[in-house]
Amino acid sequence: MRGGPDPALPVGGATRAPRKTVRFDVLTLFPDFFLSPLKISLLGKAIEAGKLSVFLHDIRQWATDKHRTIDDLPYGGGPGMVMKPEPLVAALEAVRDSSLKGRRIYLSPKGRHLRQQDLKGYLNWEQIVLLCGRYEGIDQRVIDHSIDEEVSVGDYVLAGGEAAALVFIEAVTRLIPGVLGNEGSLEEESFTTGSLIEYPHYTRPEEFRGLRVPEVLLSGDHQKIREWRRLESDRLLKSRK
Ligand code: ADE
Repeated sequence: MRGGPDPALPVGGATRAPRKTVRFDVLTLFPDFFLSPLKISLLGKAIEAGKLSVFLHDIRQWATDKHRTIDDLPYGGGPGMVMKPEPLVAALEAVRDSSLKGRRIYLSPKGRHLRQQDLKGYLNWEQIVLLCGRYEGIDQRVIDHSIDEEVSVGDYVLAGGEAAALVFIEAVTRLIPGVLGNEGSLEEESFTTGSLIEYPHYTRPEEFRGLRVPEVLLSGDHQKIREWRRLESDRLLKSRK
């Protein structure tokens, strides 16, 4: 769906997020990157339910020359191009709604690693602006002047911030009250195992290609099942370190 409050691409939800919802504004050179993931499954349903709003903004609309230039050569030389400060700061200022409690985040491999325990804190913001870089990165003055936080989704370098922004949106959205439907899933994650590593899951049939479901799961003894899951989760955590 094109159109919206500014030339943004609103993927459902209200312009002004009611309480218990989160509004994301994504600044990107590739708004279409987000369209399919935002339509399906958890994110699609959260948008339908009005619990999540995502507005996609094409950074190029803030370029000022006739070629809509958004990048330039790096001072000091070196490979690649750097995203220019003027369109980025103009974009950040234009989309930020000062009547909403907001946070401006730049997705970057040199940012602070995103951890499960920090995610809930983002639900306290009414508007989260996500800036996605491309090329070698963005002019450092944008970060110094207009960014509150740099976030990385892992120790690897992606082609741009878009995939990282999707990770961020999905990880936060599943914590919005009512989004998972089965709120027990979240409690299971944090209380049952006490860690982020999940225990192994099984469903029917009882035997598959000679492999049987562990007997304890068929026992109906919930105390024992809880204990088994905790032990398995600990074992997996240790084996991964
Ligand atoms: N952009 C490129 N790589 C990234 C990463 N690992 N995390 C966040 N943004 C990125």
